[in-house]
Amino acid sequence: MPTTDGYEFLQVQPVAGSLGAEVSGVDLGDLADQQFEEIHRAFLAHQVIFFRDQQLDEVAYISFARRWGDIMLYPYMQGLPDHPEILQVLKEPEDTYAFGSQWHTDSSFITVPPKATMLYALELPPAGGDTAYASMYHAYDALSDGMKRILADLRVLNIGDQRVPRFDELKGMKQQDPGEVQTRAYHPLIRTHPDTGRKALNVGAHSIEIEGLTKEESSPLLEYLYMHGTRQEFTCRFRWQEGTLGIWDNRCVQHYAIDDYQGHRRRMHRITIAGEEAPF
Ligand code: SIN
Repeated sequence: MPTTDGYEFLQVQPVAGSLGAEVSGVDLGDLADQQFEEIHRAFLAHQVIFFRDQQLDEVAYISFARRWGDIMLYPYMQGLPDHPEILQVLKEPEDTYAFGSQWHTDSSFITVPPKATMLYALELPPAGGDTAYASMYHAYDALSDGMKRILADLRVLNIGDQRVPRFDELKGMKQQDPGEVQTRAYHPLIRTHPDTGRKALNVGAHSIEIEGLTKEESSPLLEYLYMHGTRQEFTCRFRWQEGTLGIWDNRCVQHYAIDDYQGHRRRMHRITIAGEEAPF
C-alpha cells in the first residue's frame, strides 16, 4: 500500500530500503506549487523518485525541469535539434554499448556538477534496460570512524568522458567536442549535501586519483571506495515503463544504466539540472 508520510498531495512508495520511491497522484504537466514543494521534499528524502504514466511533450518536459533550476547541457553529446536542453539517450539494436553503463555521478568533472538528472522513458526493450542507483549517504554512513577520519580532508580528481571511447559505438547519439567546457575538477571525497546537511561519499567512474597521494596509495583506496559505494545494500534497481519519469539527486546518488538488452532499442530523454554550488 502506498504510504503518505505526511504528504497531502502525493502517495510515496519506497522501492528499496536504502533509496528510491515511486510517487503517484500527480500530473507533472499540470503541477500546483504546493504539489511541487511536496515532490521536492520526497526527492530529498528518497534521493531518486519515479513517476509512472506521465504524458509530457518536449515543451512540457522542459517546463517541468525548469522548476528545479537552470538546465545544463551535456558537453560531449548534442541535444535534440529542436530542443537542445534534451539529450536523447538512445541505444539502437545494433549498438554495442549503452550510455551510462558504469557507476557514476553525472559530470563530476566540472567545478559545479549538476544537482539532479531526469530521465523520461519513451521506448524500452521487452525486458531489461533497468537503471540501478546507489545511495552515497549510506555508503558514507557504513564506513568505519577511522576511514571517515582518513577521508575527511582528501580531494579527488575527476576527469571527463575521454575515458569512454565506447561512445563511438552509439550510432544514434551525436558526439561533440566539449570545446572550452571544463573537463577536470578536484572535489572533496566526502561531501555535505547543501539541503539535507548529510554527508555522502563522493566517488564514481570519473574519479581517477586522490590529491597528495602517490598512484600506489591512491589507486587501491579509490578502488575500495568504488566497490564499497555500490554494495548491494546501498542500491535499488528500477524497472522503467514507457511514460515513467525519474529524477535523481546527483549530490548523493550514483547510477548505472544496465546494458542487458542487446538487439533491442531503448530511447530515453534526459535533462540535467545545473548545480548551485561546488561540492563542500
Ligand atoms: C545516464 O547515465 O544518464 C543514463 C542512465 C540510463 O539510461 O539509465
